[in-house]
Amino acid sequence: MEHTTTATQQGTSTKSQALTNNQFYTDVIAGLTSSPKRLNSKYFYDAVGDKLFQDLMNSPEYYPTDCEMEIFTSYTAELAKEITADGDAFDLIELGAGDASKSSHLLGYLIDKKANFTYLPIDISANVISYLNVTLPVTLPGIKITGLQGEYFDMLKKAASISNNRKVVMFLGSNVGNMPVAEAEVFCRELRNNLSPGDMVLVGVDLKKNPKTVLAAYNDKGGITKKFNLNLLERINRELQGNFNISQFDHYATYDPESGACKSYLISLINQQIKIGEENISFKKDEYIYMEISQKYTVEQINNMAKVAGFKPLNQVFDSKKWFVDAIWIAV
Ligand code: TRP
Repeated sequence: MEHTTTATQQGTSTKSQALTNNQFYTDVIAGLTSSPKRLNSKYFYDAVGDKLFQDLMNSPEYYPTDCEMEIFTSYTAELAKEITADGDAFDLIELGAGDASKSSHLLGYLIDKKANFTYLPIDISANVISYLNVTLPVTLPGIKITGLQGEYFDMLKKAASISNNRKVVMFLGSNVGNMPVAEAEVFCRELRNNLSPGDMVLVGVDLKKNPKTVLAAYNDKGGITKKFNLNLLERINRELQGNFNISQFDHYATYDPESGACKSYLISLINQQIKIGEENISFKKDEYIYMEISQKYTVEQINNMAKVAGFKPLNQVFDSKKWFVDAIWIAV
């Protein structure tokens, strides 16, 4: 009997130790025990989240992906113009490459034009990197590719150590908008610190536009954004021994045209206590969890961001509605 009890206690403590060693768990507990409560949007994208994001991109309201895809398919030559300007060899790096569905149009164009470049996709996901290493040489014959799995800045340093070629860094999908403005500036400065004069950046940014258009994209009628947000609570249940009852949470999105900040929240519908591993978290009725920011910019603000970070804006390529821009900067 005594032996059984000990075994159970050992089992429990090993389990909770596994949890406390888990970065996802540590971040979730830190976020939900802080005031106001928050969750880090980088955890949205597990297998279910990836699928929901695909659905969201196919919803009529979610425009950013379509706009940037139009830029990469219809204005490819314009994107290529600056980055191939001096005809030298270069490394084309992509931060958070995913399935490279947008960038592959540019890659194909550059291969056709016999540009001398190596594609270096960087992604935190090992799956993504092995997928790209295997599939791109098939879909884009002749491509030189070296996938780098890891954190952006660690892998940029690695890329610099692999070759002395000029670097062109793509950061697409308005991912820069998933940071508040001040943080985005710090990010761009750190990016600059990892580059040399003459290196370039191709950054995709969602623009300020009719507030109703922005809000609808983050508050779609089909409720996919709501499911996408709630999936993070379900992921906590699945992976971190959580017991969220997701029907007791609602999604709230807001867009402020003045600041350009579009924010997603989950709202607790009742007073409730939930458990994650060994941790108890209480929610008051109407208390919110801050989930994600999707910052929108004007072209002037983007140019200004380039300058404060140590770049010179070279060109801007827009979609036909002018809702999205891929800006090209050069490190000075
Ligand atoms: N981060 C992406 C964006 O800003 C995807 C996204 C859309 C998203 N809606 C969301 C992420 C809601 C988290 C919550 O467009």
